[in-house]
Amino acid sequence: MKQFMNKTAFILGIVFYTATSFAMDISLPTPQTSGGMPLMDVISARRSERTFSPEELDLQIVSNILWSAYGISSPDGKRTIPTARNLQNLRVYALTPKGAFLYDATGNKLVEVSNKDLRPLLAEKQAYAGVAPLTLIFVGDGGKYDGMHAGSAYQNAALYCVSAGLNQVVRGLVDNEALAKELQLDDSQAIIVSLTIGRKPA
Ligand SMILES: Cc1cc2nc3c(=O)[nH]c(=O)nc-3n(C[C@H](O)[C@H](O)[C@H](O)COP(=O)(O)O)c2cc1C
Repeated sequence: MKQFMNKTAFILGIVFYTATSFAMDISLPTPQTSGGMPLMDVISARRSERTFSPEELDLQIVSNILWSAYGISSPDGKRTIPTARNLQNLRVYALTPKGAFLYDATGNKLVEVSNKDLRPLLAEKQAYAGVAPLTLIFVGDGGKYDGMHAGSAYQNAALYCVSAGLNQVVRGLVDNEALAKELQLDDSQAIIVSLTIGRKPA
């Protein structure tokens, strides 16, 4: 009997380990790449907003935001933003209540890097960043033009947000060190800036 119990516990342990150790990637809906407000109206209306509803964004909106920031916009694999020598060496992470994910534009999916809600690491000095349901983290690899790539990407995403009626604010104030660790960045990679996004509060 004891041997049977040990064996059962062992098998249950393996099942539990297997179930909990697989990362949960998220397939994104095809981004909606046309329409929206006229460009000059969006540019006129863009403003940093610092109040957010905690309501989670649906995946279609998340897909549209990420595509605007750094999606693939032509059959030859070029992106919605220019990159020096077309290096495409920017990485975009999405921090959500469900965890942290790396945007895979080719696969149009979110690849899980942590199943923890890392938003408290954004909110030490500005609590609203812990309320907003989505923050994008722009990461460079130490290249000369990393900041420019991040700037293009956050501005594209911010303009989409204005067009979609969402609030957004670009932010440098995040716990870079702790976040880099949680995102498993290597020594050459660095967090450049973030974009906090959500619906307007009710
Ligand atoms: C690189 C960068 C970093 C920023 N960091 C923060 C930040 O940490 N917190 C914040 O509330 N706003 C931040 N902002 C937003 C600016 O405060 C804001 O853009 C500025 O006040 C002008 O307002 P506007 O965006 O509505 O035109 C940042 C903006 C930039 C471009």
